Amino acid sequence: MKIFAHRGCSGIYPENTLAAFEAASKLPIEGIELDVHLSKDGELVVIHDELVDRTTNGKGFVKDMTSEELRQLDAGSWKAADFNGERIPFLHEVLTIFVETDHVLNIELKSDIFPYPGMADRVMELVQKLGFEERVILSSFDHEVLRYVSETYPQIHTACLTMEVMVDFPAYLKTIPAPDAHVLFPTALRQMGQELRAAGIPIRAFTVNDKVYADMLEKAGVEAIFTDFPEKFL
Ligand code: G3P
Ligand code: CA
Repeated sequence: MKIFAHRGCSGIYPENTLAAFEAASKLPIEGIELDVHLSKDGELVVIHDELVDRTTNGKGFVKDMTSEELRQLDAGSWKAADFNGERIPFLHEVLTIFVETDHVLNIELKSDIFPYPGMADRVMELVQKLGFEERVILSSFDHEVLRYVSETYPQIHTACLTMEVMVDFPAYLKTIPAPDAHVLFPTALRQMGQELRAAGIPIRAFTVNDKVYADMLEKAGVEAIFTDFPEKFL
């Protein structure tokens, strides 16, 4: 079973920071996962929540702050004092770390709450500039943006994210279309997982930090897990 570093090596380092991704870039794992939002001035920034409150010393929505304002925030101290000075990175900074590696780069488009018009095109512009078309998986809980990506950039690998148990998920995936399923890990152990495997659809499961569940998922034929502790699973 393959391993993806979820938000970088986010168990030890502050999630979605250059420190977390640099640590992941040194590991012999399949790839990394990151979350992208759009700032008020249209820059691609790597952070999980719509709000900066949980993972920085600031307050407010990412979409209401310019990249300059976002860059002034401390995105490391909330995790540990040692990480004081980590910033919210730009997407291009994170991807540049992986120019010399062969990791798969799973970019999650975080347009679930705010639509971020143009974000998918901005991401694709950067992916094409770096020549990363064959290394990226674009995923989202926003299935409308996945449909847009699939229609506009048919050569790009997409994955449909869901937290739910979906009835006849393989048939639903064809309607997007998205070739792969990224699922909340317990659902991969249920009938939905069996149906996906029977249809030959790769399953990647999030977020798996306990060995006992990783073992169950491996036995169930799951292709990969997203974990905050890739070092532990290696
Ligand atoms: O992409 C897998 C996983 O990251 C999706 O959930 O909330 O961690 O972005 P979340
Ligand atoms: Ca994510």
